[in-house]
Amino acid sequence: QGELRGVVAMDGPSGTGKSTVARRLAGALGAGYLDTGAMYRAITLAVLRAGVDPADSAAVLRVAEAADLHIGTDPRHASVHLGAEDVAAEIRGQRVTLAVSAVSAVPRVRDLLVARQRQIINEAGARLGGIVVEGRDIGTVVAPDAGLKVYLTASAAARAARRTAQDSAEGRKSTVDATLADVQRRDRLDSTRAVSPLRPAEDAVEVDTTELDITGVLDHLLAIVRDRGLHR
Ligand code: DC
Repeated sequence: QGELRGVVAMDGPSGTGKSTVARRLAGALGAGYLDTGAMYRAITLAVLRAGVDPADSAAVLRVAEAADLHIGTDPRHASVHLGAEDVAAEIRGQRVTLAVSAVSAVPRVRDLLVARQRQIINEAGARLGGIVVEGRDIGTVVAPDAGLKVYLTASAAARAARRTAQDSAEGRKSTVDATLADVQRRDRLDSTRAVSPLRPAEDAVEVDTTELDITGVLDHLLAIVRDRGLHR
């Protein structure tokens, strides 16, 4: 254990092992952890609960502005609340997953959440020294000065297989075929949207995790963190 100085940005599509790697990296470095996808998901849940059409950007923005969203930064205990309600499990459900791309494509919703993310990053920096932040636009938009930017990739088939295994482990029903279709649909939406499309930052370290397990990825990243002197 020790202290991470600054920000590690972890971007990439879903199913690359990004969340697990980010959380374990934060734990190993004694740093904070921020899951920005959980923030977009929680806002999406609030939108659905309000009965608002995710395609109605003005109404979506109003819900986002009013939402009382709280997100924790402890890598050992992911916590997401709307008001006092713990929504960590519900935001992983199918209903939210289907609607989140539309909500996260609204420019002013992104502005709102990016501002919140920068606040959380600054607080964690002051309190803990550093934070591992995962998402789609961390290295490109949220924290362009991050000391390390990682972009995880993997084949669509590998990612769909991992998501299906994760769903089943967490008690959600899904099939590889349906999951693959969803992975490909979200890749398309996330990488072709007008604002902050999913793409690697120019100075990101790209890691293809198709043939690597979590420990392999983690060891590789820990070595880079040490080489760059980001850890003391
Ligand atoms: O990582 P995830 O699957 O929980 O992310 C949910 C959605 O939120 C994903 O479809 C893309 C979007 N997202 C985003 O647009 N920007 C981020 N920084 C994180 C997630």
